[in-house]
Amino acid sequence: MSKKIILDIVFNNAMSKININPEESILINLESNGYKIKNSCRRGLCGSCLIKIIDHTTGNFLLARACVTHQINDSMIEIIL
Ligand code: FES
Repeated sequence: MSKKIILDIVFNNAMSKININPEESILINLESNGYKIKNSCRRGLCGSCLIKIIDHTTGNFLLARACVTHQINDSMIEIIL
């Protein structure tokens, strides 16, 4: 059984926490928690599901395609609309 991770999510300027399964993509985890994220190909090709992932400890961030990204730590995710 995989470890569950709790993430802080910033979506439309509102912060909340969700449990995610690291074996599933971030897109699937967000959808499972009721978030509607733009997407199209769901295979990492089109870029329509871009999100911003911020590392709480360093302040560094990266842009990632939610459909092919799996979260491995407790970083905060800020979704770019
Ligand atoms: S839905 Fe196309 S890259 Fe994620």
